[in-house]
Amino acid sequence: MPSHHKDHDNHFATMNFILIVLTLALSAFAQRIDISLPTSGQSLSLGRNFTVRVEKGRTLTGSTEVGIGITLAHCSQNTCEDTNERLGAILYAGPFSPQNGAGDFVPFQNFTVQVPPSFQTGKAVLSVAHASLVGAGPFFFSEIANVTVRLK
Ligand SMILES: *[C@@H]1O[C@H](CO)[C@@H](O)[C@H](O)[C@H]1NC(C)=O
Ligand SMILES: *[C@@H]1O[C@H](CO)[C@@H](O)[C@H](O)[C@H]1NC(C)=O
Ligand SMILES: *[C@@H]1O[C@H](CO)[C@@H](O)[C@H](O)[C@H]1NC(C)=O
Repeated sequence: MPSHHKDHDNHFATMNFILIVLTLALSAFAQRIDISLPTSGQSLSLGRNFTVRVEKGRTLTGSTEVGIGITLAHCSQNTCEDTNERLGAILYAGPFSPQNGAGDFVPFQNFTVQVPPSFQTGKAVLSVAHASLVGAGPFFFSEIANVTVRLK
């Protein structure tokens, strides 16, 4: 085969690869969750229940939820330490089934969880670890979202 054909084939393969990567990246992006409650800096009381509202972006790519974990970690520095490998106390672990709200709201689910009564007061990071199976493959997608709160 003349070499320019080969170049053309390689080029085509590269373009295809880029397209596949872009599509995966976009569909993964659309699967991301957002913590809309509590809000950043919100005060929460030890021993009290509060709502964690988890939103999921709308998407054309189908996905099957595996579940989420909601965790809480005390911050010992003013700029909270990275909590990705030290998520803290588990407040919830189990199914995630976001439902459409009224109006234009993206699908979301409310979780009622309790601040552990004997937790340290001060700044803390609330994390939501999320896993799902995305697309026709499907591929495994996971992420950790977080919000900083104040415990009193
Ligand atoms: C919160 O999430 C962001 C984005 O993933 C990350 O960069 C940051 O380190 C996390 N914060 C903490 C305190 O773990
Ligand atoms: C979710 O929680 C928020 C805050 O507590 C509340 O305003 C809202 O009505 C709840 N929505 C549903 C569908 O439970
Ligand atoms: C707090 O939340 C727990 C777990 O969801 C629930 O069993 C309990 O009834 C709630 N307590 C109050 C006072 O709402």
